[in-house]
Amino acid sequence: MAKITVISRDGQGREVEAENGLSLMEVIRDNGFDELLALCGGCCSCATCHIHVDPAFADRLPKMSEDENDLLDSTDHRNETSRLSCQVPVTDALDGLIVTIAPED
Ligand code: FES
Repeated sequence: MAKITVISRDGQGREVEAENGLSLMEVIRDNGFDELLALCGGCCSCATCHIHVDPAFADRLPKMSEDENDLLDSTDHRNETSRLSCQVPVTDALDGLIVTIAPED
């Protein structure tokens, strides 16, 4: 279990509880952040679950796959902390993480 702060597109932050084993996408979506569309349901094929993560946690996240990297390249708002939230599993190591939902493409 980790506590994660999610910042929505209007700049409002809310702390949510994240269960280990879920993806960050599932945690964000299940906590009512409808702006995270996650259209493909977590299959790494839509990029509508794009988030920017707190750089302090960069080394605690799993390495990005080639597919995730390619999909992020297709978005307009990629930055150095971009991830697809469906590709990041929740672990205790993410306790305190802050993520920001990326602007819509
Ligand atoms: S939900 Fe589609 S890529 Fe993450």
